[in-house]
Amino acid sequence: MSHGFDTLAIHAGQDPEARTGAVIPPIYQTSTYAQDAVGAPRQGYEYSRSGNPTRDALQECLAALEGGPVGLAFASGLAAEDTLLRAACKPGDHVVIPDDAYGGTYRLFAKVAERWGLAYTPAKVSDVDAVRAAIRPGVTRIVWVETPTNPLLGIADIAALAAVAHDAGALLVVDNTFASPYLQQPIALGADVVVHSTTKYVGGHSDVVGGALVAADRGLGEELRFHQNAMGAVNGPFDAWLTLRGIKTLGVRMDRHCDNAERIAAYLDGHAKVGQVIYPGLPSHPGHEVAAKQMRRFGGMISFRAAGGEEHAVEICNQAKLFVLAESLGGVESLIEHPGRMTHASAAGSPLEVPGDLVRLSVGIETVDDLLADLEQALG
Ligand SMILES: Cc1ncc(COP(=O)(O)O)c(C=O)c1O
Repeated sequence: MSHGFDTLAIHAGQDPEARTGAVIPPIYQTSTYAQDAVGAPRQGYEYSRSGNPTRDALQECLAALEGGPVGLAFASGLAAEDTLLRAACKPGDHVVIPDDAYGGTYRLFAKVAERWGLAYTPAKVSDVDAVRAAIRPGVTRIVWVETPTNPLLGIADIAALAAVAHDAGALLVVDNTFASPYLQQPIALGADVVVHSTTKYVGGHSDVVGGALVAADRGLGEELRFHQNAMGAVNGPFDAWLTLRGIKTLGVRMDRHCDNAERIAAYLDGHAKVGQVIYPGLPSHPGHEVAAKQMRRFGGMISFRAAGGEEHAVEICNQAKLFVLAESLGGVESLIEHPGRMTHASAAGSPLEVPGDLVRLSVGIETVDDLLADLEQALG
């Protein structure tokens, strides 16, 4: 029987525990497991890097929410990305990446994977022809997209890019961190692997760092599982438990994030102290139609250009009070940041450099009038 999203978020992988009936999956804070005889581990559990029941519960839930056969939980989003790259690529291969990828993802490609022999080309993922042109036939192994992108909220047409990638014999990888599986399910649109920084909306409470991969194909999923164990960047039991606790409310949180973001985007749009407002829910956003086609709603992230330039953008970030000045996103509390000097500083001087007058908001689930009042005083 198939269930709705919120039912899966609360129950998938989370049956009451067999021994005691504990309704919540226990935190199996153990590194190893007693074996009944040599070569006879109980229910396959032998060592927690290879398998842990709390992590298994999270993995099963993530797979159910993204609609793939295999879900895997990692120590961070970047650990998940690194594991995927090394499982799917070898030195000499090529990857197409977004021209406004998350700075840490860009750094992984530019400073780590390239040294290891993996070439990459940044392309505008909202432009299907640009992605097609960036592919090197026979060499490109992955077309990697974020949608919406971080921080410019570009929208990639997942179904169209899946066709482009598959025509070239490449995999389509979608970083679904900004949307969360509640708003967008890339596998149903043709993606081969979904990536998450579960640190963000999936965990949702800014109290745990984690990452995830969900594969559309069981064979690829098992390959990724092998690398998860062989490389070792696993999610710990307590972190997995915290993430699962957050996941239960993902649907209701996302709806409130979207409600608040829609109100704030409308307020900023046309404000005298604000230049361009970048929010996929605004009809003026160039990706609005594609976003409306592939997303349930438009998410909780808003970027905008400060009318007074870079110093004004920095001042807005410094003046905000309820919006906490901090990196990261996707928690219940609202955050504000200056991407050029904070999250995306590692992209300075590269093709992925972001505009200096850009401010990024992660709109939380507080009372929206309080958030609007804080922005009004911060804009100066
Ligand atoms: C879109 C996106 N992908 C991946 C990551 C990396 O995740 P983590 O910080 O959990 O390693 C981030 C972090 O901000 C992100 O925003």
